[in-house]
This record gives sequence, structure tokens and C-alpha cells, in this order.
Amino acid sequence: MAKKIDAPSIFGEAEDYLKKTHAMDKLGFSRHTFEKAQKQGLFTPTVVTTEKGKEVLVYSVAELNSFMQTDEYRKLDEGTVDPRNTLNDLTGKEWLPETKSYFFQKGLGADHPDAQIEKLHPAPYSFQDIEKLILFFTKKGMTVLDPFGGVASTAKACELTGRKCISIELSEKYHELSIKRLETEVAKGASKRHQLINGDSCAILPTLETGSVDFMVTSPPYWGILNKQDRKVIENRVANNLDTKYSESELDLGNVEDYKEFLNILTKKIFMQCARILRNNKYMAIVVSDFRDKGEYISFHSDLIHLLNHQKIEGGGELVLQGTKILVQNHKSLLPYGYPASYVENIHHQYVLLFRKK
Ligand SMILES: C[S@@+](CC[C@H](N)C(=O)[O-])C[C@H]1O[C@@H](n2cnc3c(N)ncnc32)[C@H](O)[C@@H]1O
Repeated sequence: MAKKIDAPSIFGEAEDYLKKTHAMDKLGFSRHTFEKAQKQGLFTPTVVTTEKGKEVLVYSVAELNSFMQTDEYRKLDEGTVDPRNTLNDLTGKEWLPETKSYFFQKGLGADHPDAQIEKLHPAPYSFQDIEKLILFFTKKGMTVLDPFGGVASTAKACELTGRKCISIELSEKYHELSIKRLETEVAKGASKRHQLINGDSCAILPTLETGSVDFMVTSPPYWGILNKQDRKVIENRVANNLDTKYSESELDLGNVEDYKEFLNILTKKIFMQCARILRNNKYMAIVVSDFRDKGEYISFHSDLIHLLNHQKIEGGGELVLQGTKILVQNHKSLLPYGYPASYVENIHHQYVLLFRKK
């Protein structure tokens, strides 16, 4: 039962009481959890009558503080995993922020000792960003596929979160670095807990069983794009003796010259195969960026959506777009590309295209 006190007695000590929204913020509860706790009598609101005669509920800060010391508070704060949740191991509270349509890129920083292998690859993604996706789209023990493994950022994220990874990489050099990365940056023996395959995904994917993986996440090679990178970026990498392209191999999709042919191979031979290998109702996350080619803006992400959305999958079902999360790359340096005559964008975000097999 709510206590009732007159406005004057509370207004003198206003800081001792909080309005409902501020009390919710203090506890870090959603409205639903807040009202549930109140119903259970874990704290009691006080009714205040304002000078205009309106009754308002307020909450005693002292009472909220002592509630925050209890086990009941800790349980509600951490939340529970809904028994109907077959997708991941997140509580309702953890789930909600992950449904935002953007997130900020996180990395170790170039000087971090664990960033030295990653630096040897021209286009790695951050294992921390991928960890977020893996935690949302899988449960512990599930299997994740990456058809363009690079230096095993996906496998590293899997190892750190207790998932299994199948990672396919064409270049022998990056394959070797992948093994070294898991062994030195995570734990001795870690590379053995995952399937790190050295080979061409176009040939290997058809050999993988239909409906055998729980999530696919990858960033594809870009159609000759490494050769089209900013001149300064290339010069910098050359000066530091770092690779500016993945390989000279004809099987390397980064070396396919014609954009249409590149899209065709990427969607038909890679992503639609990955869709077949996915279990029903599971998700695929494709991390891509738009880019410029000889002054033309190529909307790579929308070309991929156009080619993949509602495509029928061999063995049954179709791929259905669920969202496009923006990965904000806030730390990148601004370059004065078009200044002072024209708008040339500093592309400082990537898209995470999220498809589901239905
Ligand atoms: C954008 S990178 C992926 C980087 C990776 N996400 C990481 O963090 O290390 C694309 C990778 O695809 C590889 N690749 C290109 N063609 C391939 C193919 N046909 N089969 C397998 N890998 C291929 C390239 O060697 C390159 O390492």
C-alpha cells in the first residue's frame, strides 16, 4: 500500500524522493521490471499531493538504496533468459539494446600486442564487433560459418564465447596466421577446437551438409577494391611492408575484374550455398561497405540485398532480409577528397546485412 504524505512535507526534502522515471533510471529497470518489483512489494511508492491538488507517486531514495543491496534486486537487474529463447543466451535486458539499428566499431587499437597479426591482413574486421553478433545470433556450443576467414577474427570471437567455428580461407599465408593468432592470442590448443580450412570456398561450401550450421557471419573480398584503395593508404602499407591485396590467385574473388561477374559468383556460389548450409530459421550476417570506383559511387550493400532477398534456397526455404545494422567507424581520419569543389563522402560506416532462412 502506498504511503500518503502531503506535498509540503516532501517538497522541503525533494532530493530524498524521485519521480517514477528517475527511480526507474536509478535502478536501471525497464517500466515492466519496475512495475513487477513494485507489485511484489520490493519498494513502496509514496503519494504526494501537489499544490494543485494532483496526486503523484514518488519513490524514497533511501528505500531504493537499501533495495539495491538485496538479492532480489540483483536477480531482477541481471534478468533471466526466457525459457522460450531458442536463439541466444541473452536476458531480456541484454537483448533489447542489441536490436538497435546501429553500433559503434570497437577495436584493440593498432599498438595493442594482440593486434599485430590482424595488422598483417589488409582488411580484417574487429573480433569484438563480431562477438556481439555471435552472442545475439547463437547460443553457447553452436556452430558459426565464415566462408572468408581471413586471419580468423570470427574463429577468435567463437573461441572467446564458447562457439565452434568453420572458417575457410583461400590464402595459405592467412590460414597459417589464423592458427598462430588463435594459439598466441587466445589459448594453446585453441586452433584445434575449430575447423580452419585452407581452400576455395566456391569448392568447399558445396561439400558441407545442408542445415548443419547455426549462424553465418563474414566480410567478403571486394571486387578488385584493394587495388582501388586510397593512394595514401596503399603507400602507407607498402612503406610498412604490409600486403595491399590478398593474393594473386584467380580463385580469389578480390581479383575478379568485372563487377557483375563478381556479384554473381559471390551471391550464387557463396551466399546461397551458405544459406543452404544454415539450419532453418537461422541468420546470416554480411558485413560490407559501399565504395567508389573511378569516381562512381557503388552501393554494394543494396546490390547484394537486391540479389539475395527472397532468393529460393536449394533444399528448401528462402532468404529474407531482416535489417541492415550500421556499424559506425567513428575513429577513421577524415580525408579532404572533394574539397573545395564537390561532395565526396568519407565512408565511415559499414552495413551488417541481416538475412534469415525461412
Ligand atoms: C575481407 S577479407 C576477410 C577478413 C576477415 N573477416 C578477418 O577479419 O580476418 C576477405 C578474405 O577472403 C579471402 N578469399 C578471397 N577469395 C576467396 C575464396 N574463393 N575462398 C576463400 N577465401 C577467399 C581473402 O584471401 C581474404 O582474406
